[in-house]
Amino acid sequence: MHRALRPVDATNEGLVELAQDATAPEGLLFHHANEGRPLATPWQIAALRAQLVAEHELPQGMVLDCACGSGIQLAAYGAALRRPLLGVELAHERAQASAMNIQTVAKHMQSSEDTWYVNSHIISGDGTNAEGVMAALGKPDMEIAFLHLDPARPRNSRTHALEEMQPPLHRVLASWAPYFTKTSLAPSLLLDLSPRLTAVQRTEVESIVEETWPGIARTWEWTSRGRGRVDRLALWLGGVADTHATRRFIRVPASLADAPVVLRSKGQHSAPEVRHHPPKRGEHVSILDAALMESGLMQEWLERVVPSEQGRWAFVEGRRPQLHHDHPLQLETEDMGLVQATGKVVELLKFSLDETTVDQLVGVALEHRLASVKLRFDIDPALQPKMQGSLDRQLRRRHGDREGFVAQHPHGDILLLCVCPSQAEQSPLI
Ligand SMILES: C[S@@+](CC[C@H](N)C(=O)[O-])C[C@H]1O[C@@H](n2cnc3c(N)ncnc32)[C@H](O)[C@@H]1O
Repeated sequence: MHRALRPVDATNEGLVELAQDATAPEGLLFHHANEGRPLATPWQIAALRAQLVAEHELPQGMVLDCACGSGIQLAAYGAALRRPLLGVELAHERAQASAMNIQTVAKHMQSSEDTWYVNSHIISGDGTNAEGVMAALGKPDMEIAFLHLDPARPRNSRTHALEEMQPPLHRVLASWAPYFTKTSLAPSLLLDLSPRLTAVQRTEVESIVEETWPGIARTWEWTSRGRGRVDRLALWLGGVADTHATRRFIRVPASLADAPVVLRSKGQHSAPEVRHHPPKRGEHVSILDAALMESGLMQEWLERVVPSEQGRWAFVEGRRPQLHHDHPLQLETEDMGLVQATGKVVELLKFSLDETTVDQLVGVALEHRLASVKLRFDIDPALQPKMQGSLDRQLRRRHGDREGFVAQHPHGDILLLCVCPSQAEQSPLI
């Protein structure tokens, strides 16, 4: 059973949760229902993505989100694409929240009279039943210009198996394929998937898509909001695939006002390998962004920031991918967010760090005029705050004026004391 709701007529009756999305402009509050809030796409990601879709040519027709949750992504599409929206949501109260959120965004944009908004609909019901949705919409001529799918996944799922996605991808594609606008342009779809999908699962997704549209163009996109985490993994298909990339990495900035870092590659992913090498004073150590590493685009980025140098990987897995190299990184402002720490090795510390050796480290740090030393290696979580606190306290009021960090050498029990480039040296290249 499908029921049509119109955002223009939506009311907040019965909706109890109204919340500020931390990434949205202040005052833009969204409704959520049935615990829809944790599932909702953060506004900043939704808006950024909608702007990227707007760069592509789409045929006539509606923007469909067949599992629209609280409708945040759908509302962002409305704002950027200004086309009639069609959202489908199985949970009725969430469908109602979607209609309200689209109304909120349209009002925020002063679009209350706009055709796209007046002609937008949310259908409460099953998004895998295109026929039922279209019947409830009551507009038999309406076609789909673009399909977005962000399926629900069970919380705390370990495997993130494709079969766990709701609604299932193969059913959505099979059901909606006949409703795409008949045009010479390729169909346009964006699949917002679990960031934890493995390479094998990504290939499975590609096979499912191929069953409906053989040979369709595709771009995998990893999005990170920092802290080394991949926040979203998406597959852009057909008309919205990136003609310059089969893989793309997007580092979303902290502020809506700043531009994101976008890296693109057409090449195949080749995983970097660890290279054994002895510890050495004078070499540079950089701890880089783990999400960039996961996306497989690290090499492309390094070719720009340490040109004509291979470097030696000390760690390629985990939270701290660590590269050793002979020349300093050449960083633009936008690159700063992809570097956890970078510096030159000034001492090889042949002791492990604990309460009995921390003063020894302070002594060495002062010899190198360090005012702060951050611990950038895996250390017992119970010990870490004690050690870091002790270093901070002891170094703060001394004669140091430089910043440094301690990294682990991958072989043997050697720690590397590194000095960061000074502000002047670190200033972005002009
Ligand atoms: C991850 S949420 C989507 C969040 C959305 N992108 C947003 O910005 O708020 C996925 C939604 O799919 C819905 N869903 C699951 N199976 C469905 C189906 N067969 N038809 C329609 N919606 C379905 C769930 O109720 C859930 O709200």
